[in-house]
Amino acid sequence: MSLLGILDRLADVTSLDKAVEPARTAVDRLLRPQGLKDALHGTWLGHPLHPVLAQVPVGSWVSAGLLDLVPPLRPAATVLIGTGVAAAVPTALAGAADWSEQEVGVRRVGALHAVLNTAALGLYVGSLVARRRGAGTAGRVLSYAGLALASGSAAVGGHMSYAQSSGASHAVTSARQLTHDWIDLGPLDDLPEGRPALRTGEGQGAPVPLAVVRRGSRVDVFVGACAHLGGPLAEGRVEQVAGRDCLVCPWHDSAFDLDAGEPRRGPAAVPQEKLDVRYEGGRVLAKLAGRHTEEG
Ligand code: FES
Repeated sequence: MSLLGILDRLADVTSLDKAVEPARTAVDRLLRPQGLKDALHGTWLGHPLHPVLAQVPVGSWVSAGLLDLVPPLRPAATVLIGTGVAAAVPTALAGAADWSEQEVGVRRVGALHAVLNTAALGLYVGSLVARRRGAGTAGRVLSYAGLALASGSAAVGGHMSYAQSSGASHAVTSARQLTHDWIDLGPLDDLPEGRPALRTGEGQGAPVPLAVVRRGSRVDVFVGACAHLGGPLAEGRVEQVAGRDCLVCPWHDSAFDLDAGEPRRGPAAVPQEKLDVRYEGGRVLAKLAGRHTEEG
């Protein structure tokens, strides 16, 4: 088993839930206004905010570690450590917002990520205090220890994103299975008005679910797996969110603009995959957007 593969074992340790689930409840309470949670998810940005913010503490602390090697540059290292400490707070809040709406196994691993980050932050705060008191050697020892923990924690976060798909769009994975040809979704008149219907497209060996919404003579077709964690959008509902008609996921209530596919409410931070639509002889046909084909 690889070193980081141990984290997959950790994801199965149910006894961790005694600590993880109360923490999740506390995060939900702390970030209760939906607008605050959406801001932290990055719904407004069309991209998860946590990895964007994480650049600041990680970059500042790595740079500080290098500057500390050159004695005349150590005051600049202290400034960078302070910058990283200040940026760690919003970074942690954005991560907590995402973490609270992940699958249970990812939440267990995420708890380790949070503990390591908190410990690293504590060491960096201690380093700042030591430097301020003139204890430069102790300050550097503390910040290098903090850098070691923050680096380990970054590896855990990367494993959550890449190996456990916590940050990937599950809709793109599903879209890649779909045929690149026009898909006949049947007669327009067979589609219910104003609520999602399940249709399927031909996939690589298995049908790919699609969520189809009719509004009058207009039809919008989405990949059926929600971008957030793959929830079944065809079992969701249509709702007005922020003044826009949206398709709402039944699992965590992410809302995707029916016209543009963009998220109007989180936890989803990326747009939902939409298909191009045309109408022929009273029938509705849909096709995957060109960016998913071999030719692009
Ligand atoms: S799966 Fe979480 S909002 Fe859809």
